[in-house]
Amino acid sequence: MGEEKAVPRHVAVIMDGNGRWAKKRLLPRSAGHKAGMKRMIALSEHVFDRGVRYCTLFALSCENLSRPQDELNALFSLFREYFTKNAQVLKEKSVELRVVGDLSALPEDVREIIRAGEKLTEGGTRGTLALAIGYGGRQDILAAANRAVRAGKEVSAEEFSAMLQTGNIPEPDLLIRTGKELRISNFLLWQAAYAELYFSEKMFPEFSDADFDDALKAYASRERRYGKL
Ligand code: IPE
Ligand code: IPE
Ligand code: MG
Repeated sequence: MGEEKAVPRHVAVIMDGNGRWAKKRLLPRSAGHKAGMKRMIALSEHVFDRGVRYCTLFALSCENLSRPQDELNALFSLFREYFTKNAQVLKEKSVELRVVGDLSALPEDVREIIRAGEKLTEGGTRGTLALAIGYGGRQDILAAANRAVRAGKEVSAEEFSAMLQTGNIPEPDLLIRTGKELRISNFLLWQAAYAELYFSEKMFPEFSDADFDDALKAYASRERRYGKL
């Protein structure tokens, strides 16, 4: 029973380090992203096997959209491949796929495949896999604040949370960042207010299921106080 409780309901992952993983192997950055996607597919299955209900993966930030166009094109191709192949797989596993972020910089066909994948997997009961693409925490907060201003009324914290792109997804309990950097890089700024943070030195393509289990173990040993005694 105690063990059950120690599993975070929502784990968010900043999947960083693809480029450095590739560089170390004298490969192009796109090869790192490809390896990262392969790892992401396997890891997202493992996460739900561990009893996590919500998993949000940071795949592309708003700021990443200013990277060179050839890198972006490689990423868009990977998204195309991912959503084409995996939506059906997720449906069979009853995992609901959601995308948060501004997709306007993505090619039209990729946006359509993403929407189709969300529709196909809608209502999956095993868990929710949210991919953050073209996502920025500040942009998310700002858009919600502006919507509240336009509506001309003050909102409560609960109402504000519901207005964010993560809408009805509960706040993350555990936030993992791979790739050695010790920062949030504009991820879930509002939502992660009380998330437990876990940083891994592993580059994302080498962040194994066992490494994820280490993060779960660390989480289970944390005492969450929320400012109370
Ligand atoms: C994370 O890997 C994936 C994206 C941001 C698209 P990076 O591409 O940031 O990899 P590093 O940090 O350069 O190694
Ligand atoms: C954060 O990684 C975004 C994603 C992993 C999608 P970055 O590589 O963009 O972060 P910085 O530039 O090191 O802060
Ligand atoms: Mg990076």
